[in-house]
Amino acid sequence: MLKYLKKYWIYCLLAPLFMLGELTMDLLQPDMMATIVDEGVLGGNLQVILQEGLRMMLLVLFGGTSGVLCGVFATFAALRFGNDIRKDLFARVMDFSFEQTDRFTTGSLITRITNDVTQMEQLVMMLVRSLVRCSVMFVGGIIMLYRQSPRFALVAACGLPFITVFVVFFLKKVSPLYTVIQKKLDRLNSIMQENIAGARVVKAYVKEDYELKHFSQANDELCDVNLRAQTILAFMNPCVNIVLNLCVVGVLYVGGYTVSQNGGITPGQTMAAITYLSLILMRIVFMANIFQTFTRASASWKRIKEVLETENVQQAGEGKQEAGRKGEIEFRHVSFAFPDTPDLPVLKDISFRVNPGETVAIIGSTGSGKTSLVQLIPRFYDVTQGEVLVDGVNVWDYPMQALRDKIGIVQQKTELFSRSIEENIRWGKEEAKESEVSRAARIAQAEDFILRMPEGYEAQVAEGGHSLSGGQKQRISIARAVIRDPEILIFDDSGSALDLKTEAALYDALNREFAETTKIVVAQRIASVRQADRILVLDNGEIRDSGTHEELLEHSAVYQEIYRSQMKREVTA
Ligand code: CTP
Ligand code: MG
Repeated sequence: MLKYLKKYWIYCLLAPLFMLGELTMDLLQPDMMATIVDEGVLGGNLQVILQEGLRMMLLVLFGGTSGVLCGVFATFAALRFGNDIRKDLFARVMDFSFEQTDRFTTGSLITRITNDVTQMEQLVMMLVRSLVRCSVMFVGGIIMLYRQSPRFALVAACGLPFITVFVVFFLKKVSPLYTVIQKKLDRLNSIMQENIAGARVVKAYVKEDYELKHFSQANDELCDVNLRAQTILAFMNPCVNIVLNLCVVGVLYVGGYTVSQNGGITPGQTMAAITYLSLILMRIVFMANIFQTFTRASASWKRIKEVLETENVQQAGEGKQEAGRKGEIEFRHVSFAFPDTPDLPVLKDISFRVNPGETVAIIGSTGSGKTSLVQLIPRFYDVTQGEVLVDGVNVWDYPMQALRDKIGIVQQKTELFSRSIEENIRWGKEEAKESEVSRAARIAQAEDFILRMPEGYEAQVAEGGHSLSGGQKQRISIARAVIRDPEILIFDDSGSALDLKTEAALYDALNREFAETTKIVVAQRIASVRQADRILVLDNGEIRDSGTHEELLEHSAVYQEIYRSQMKREVTA
């Protein structure tokens, strides 16, 4: 945490310094008031009233200005500090592997980047303002009270232990609740995020009430814990007030008695003493607030640190990769299970080789492991056994960027950003020229529909790509991949939303323009794979057969079965 504050040390220093100015005002004012009352009002001396009044005005001006400056510097330090942490958190989250993002959950990551950082900002604000203010006021108040009369200080000394006991008691009860509150907030954010993103599904199934119940439950739970914490704290103030008022009575008694006995205490001093007394005792309550913020922030800091200290589990290599462009892929006895289900192998002993420039298709029923298989090539996940080689080098030995630069992958679930179509395509290669963007769109069979839109390439894509059809989204993400002109192109069911004619035109264009590029085409339709140089038939995580369309039709029972079922469908349709 200090690492983040160090940059703003000057503000952290200036804020408390100006705070001292404000404090001087607060501490001297009651004393001046005592002089005005004793010498001016009771002594009938107008001169003193005017003189002291003027001094008090100047003091207020000085104190007020200091207060404003203190606030400005403290806010600056706190917000900049939070800003830096948020940036680092976001960068760290961007660096997470798929497995790590899955483990933290999106909702929790959002809470950490927003709410937890806000708690930390409040802590900094409080440290540079309230902590200094509280301690100086507390000590200064005692000194000033003692100056009025040591007897008053004795009264304060009697009240102090009681207030401290109350405050400690309540805080102990409330502190553990803060961790619970943050967990509940995580859950609420997860539910919200899922439901807002999936609003279309919720509506399609008319599940609004069902999801509202789900949300309300989480919301109520959060509210209950918050209420519990606030109720406990609500009891604290009256208890403190009782002690405080008892002490005021004590001061009045001591003051009144001594004044009547002519014992050296004036009415003005008694009045000032009451102000100082509340100043001192109320500091304990403020200290409690500081402690609360501290407890909340330390729970938040733990969660922030957890993210900041999580290194990407995937250690990248140092750059042993061979120079030159080839595009060769080899799987050697690869087995794979997802990290959260290690006993459930998704791929079993997969071995195959794709030569540079070859087009290999992977076909198989849903859930057979096609997506899992292709995700191992750019290391979205790591193999459990065996090895994956690209251009003869184990993918583990590549620096991550070098590996991923070689590959253009169109994922099964299209993710577009809420920017223009052109920006979405250019996303694959920022420095691409306009001609490259339109070439990529042409190859992806996207140009026609883009130019038909009134705004063409400038048309804005709505959040989640909702303003486009499924097939249009797929084609834009294909354009985004091909614009990179990679050595290896991977299409994970990328033609599934295209009609057969468009899909055929897409593969024709790819074969023409990317003849040298290695292509892996994952598909469920025979029509999508029959042109491939080789087809791998995946069944329940294993490669059953491989060969050309004709070869497979001859000797692969699984392929024949897929073929027959699709032919039957086409005939009946
Ligand atoms: N799976 C999993 N955890 C994930 C993703 C998938 O446990 N994060 C499991 C799925 O339940 C499935 C298996 O891994 O049983 C293979 O999934 P996948 O590779 O996605 O199958 P595909 O062949 O790509 O299926 P589809 O045709 O439906 O895309
Ligand atoms: Mg899949």
